[in-house]
Amino acid sequence: MVGDLSSVVLVGLVVFLLCVILNHFLPLLLKFGVTPRGTFGWPLLGETLSFLNPHSSNSIGTFLQEHCSRYGKVFKSHLFCSPTIVSCDQELNYFILQNEDKLFQCSYPKPIHGVLGKSSMLVVVGDTHKKLRSVALTLVSTTKSKPEYLNDIERTALQILSSWRGKQQVTFCDEARKFTFNVIIKQVLGLTPDEPQTTKILQDFLTFMRGLISFPLYIPGTPYARAVQARTRISSTVKAIIEERRSNVGNSKRKGDFLEILLSVDNLYEDEKVSFVLDSLLGGYETTSLLMAMAVQFLSQSPAALQQLKLEHWSIRSSKEKDEYLNWEDYKKMEFTQNVISEALRCGNIVKFVHRKALKDVRFKDYLIPSGWKVLPVFSAVHLDPSLHGSTLEFHPWRWEKQSQTSKKFTPFGGGPRFCPGSELAKVETAFFLHHLVLNFRWITEGVDHPLAYPYVEFQRGLPLSVEPILPESPF
Ligand code: HEM
Repeated sequence: MVGDLSSVVLVGLVVFLLCVILNHFLPLLLKFGVTPRGTFGWPLLGETLSFLNPHSSNSIGTFLQEHCSRYGKVFKSHLFCSPTIVSCDQELNYFILQNEDKLFQCSYPKPIHGVLGKSSMLVVVGDTHKKLRSVALTLVSTTKSKPEYLNDIERTALQILSSWRGKQQVTFCDEARKFTFNVIIKQVLGLTPDEPQTTKILQDFLTFMRGLISFPLYIPGTPYARAVQARTRISSTVKAIIEERRSNVGNSKRKGDFLEILLSVDNLYEDEKVSFVLDSLLGGYETTSLLMAMAVQFLSQSPAALQQLKLEHWSIRSSKEKDEYLNWEDYKKMEFTQNVISEALRCGNIVKFVHRKALKDVRFKDYLIPSGWKVLPVFSAVHLDPSLHGSTLEFHPWRWEKQSQTSKKFTPFGGGPRFCPGSELAKVETAFFLHHLVLNFRWITEGVDHPLAYPYVEFQRGLPLSVEPILPESPF
């Protein structure tokens, strides 16, 4: 009897394993010969672990290096539990981004949906995405050059930098995060750093961020489960702020923040408004602080670039009254700063790739991309392609004097209908912070701290800097 049972279990197990193996390799057999070359790796896991293996963000990593040299810039693989086409080709990347919702669609892994929520702009598709995006674009275009917004950024930068006086060392990534969080929370919800709601949102937000990059296991106590709960708490705090605002409608004091404009929009559901706030916090926090850290790190290694940057900011500052705020015209004069920012984005690769899926069978050049397969346009591979960017590994901001900052070979903010709506905000914040940093401080990096792509980029030691104040009248 026991023997019979164990043979049934054994047969069941064998059938199960065969199904798993068949399910894994079936797409490979069906599309053999027509899809790009490549391998599927192990059943279930495929090649995901090698693909995610950490590497310096200023390199493409061993996995892409080996696969591109063996199969070419476009190859097939099995990643995130799905047959996948990986593209390191600028033309195909551009084609994918431009054909959003027609041939391809944004498709982040399901566990990310669980944390971001079903109304997040990164998750929604079709008409809902168009509706949310048009609100985002209106908000950004009405905000970005407003003096109140620019003054807030500058005040926040000055607060952070004045807290450095008397210190010899700072952990730059922490300082940059403090800066970007304070800017975005003021911009979106009108909150200042010392308000209790700010502290509450920050605590929950940090838990939320940790869960976003954790193993997606929903069991009480895991970082993933804590992140989902933190998101619920942030939603409740934001809803309470919305209620408070609504009950103060008669109050003539205008806040001028995103929330004020959001509340006047009547084609969004309550959940969408809350998600919108979360998306802005998420988008405006980590990525922008990383960009600042990249710029600071690369400038430490390039004295000539730092000198030219100082000259640019010194010339702008000299044309202004003492303590006069920077304005949009000043920002537009920061041409070399723009080049430094673009080069930090190209070398640093804050967003390595984005997730898409093919909506139908797509033919591009000699490749067939089968319907339903995952498609990953890898931006870092294009940014670090020596045939597209000469002296690829060198931080050389001057290259942008002759090269367009919007082209197929430079897509740090994505492209097409999902191009990052916050790109200009991130650049203004970085430029204004650098303005006061280079005019007020000298710094050197403490030891080696290369940013690693996990694929989420992180400085292992938080970029420790030795800092020394200098006189703004003579920053050289
Ligand atoms: C250096 C800073 C930043 C980088 C490198 C960056 C990068 C990106 C990229 C690559 C995408 C495209 C995602 C995709 O196609 O799937 C994106 C989308 C997005 N970003 Fe940013 N971003 C930055 C700053 C910001 C800021 C400051 C905000 C908001 C205040 C923001 C909000 C968003 C939102 C809401 C989306 C979704 C857009 C959509 O799906 O239509 N980002 N970002």
